[in-house]
Amino acid sequence: MGDVRVHDTAALLEIALQVAREAGELLVHGRPDDADLGVDTKTSSTDVVTEMDRRSEQLIVAAIKAARPQDGFLGEEGAVTQSTSGITWVIDPIDGTVNYLYRYPVWAVSIAACVSAPGMAEDMKAIVGVVHAPLLHETWSAREGHGSFLRDSLGEHRLSVRGEDRLAHALIATGFAYEEHKRRIHGQTAAALLPRVRDIRRPGSAALDICNVAAGRVDGYYERGTHAWDRAAAALIAREAGVVLGGAHGAPESVDLAIATNPALFSQLHDALIECGATSSY
Ligand code: IPD
Repeated sequence: MGDVRVHDTAALLEIALQVAREAGELLVHGRPDDADLGVDTKTSSTDVVTEMDRRSEQLIVAAIKAARPQDGFLGEEGAVTQSTSGITWVIDPIDGTVNYLYRYPVWAVSIAACVSAPGMAEDMKAIVGVVHAPLLHETWSAREGHGSFLRDSLGEHRLSVRGEDRLAHALIATGFAYEEHKRRIHGQTAAALLPRVRDIRRPGSAALDICNVAAGRVDGYYERGTHAWDRAAAALIAREAGVVLGGAHGAPESVDLAIATNPALFSQLHDALIECGATSSY
């Protein structure tokens, strides 16, 4: 059974917004010269982590811990703490690290407050989510049951998914893993899908890709190889806007496959992806 405790999502959202902004400030204004970025590699020589990813995660964890010492953490850069409050914060301190490295502005800080939810993605459910993209001047947020919002230079807008219901006219975002043997297969799937859709985008941040489905900037998104920290906050933002998320054959979205579309497109994109090899083994 899932967590039945009642949590104050308004208070959690305040914390997430405040901490995401602080991390964004650090990442923009505290960025050292390129030579001092402290770049290390992870799954392959092109999958990078910078010293700024680590500093951002440390800042986020320390700030949330100061406010809520009983909460747990799951962070991309290694933060793992068990929760005794029922809340676990799932954090990607920079989603789109390669973009950050290249000064390509499509990257975001992603913070989700999650509760246990067996059967959902990674057996967790976000009840609060923030995706903050400082260089795009965009902050996406949601509380479970209260809708999702985008704050940009024009103000704050409530999100409501819309979009294309014909796969052949759909604009689809995706991403690729960094390991060579996996990205070869991912490339084959994208190549097979390309003639069946309007076009494909690879912006470089899974969190922002999923948020962009909620805003109707793309009609759908799919990717293999994403982790809870890439998706948790954005998935809530998207669901609260009416986006359907899932994996293959009725499974929840996962590291194996994550699909997000408007309701009319989900089964069309899902079926096309299966035909295009999105569940083939590596
Ligand atoms: C990456 C981005 C990218 C996606 C990769 C992720 P990171 O996250 O979201 O768009 O294609 O699968 O790993 O590593 O920059 O946090």
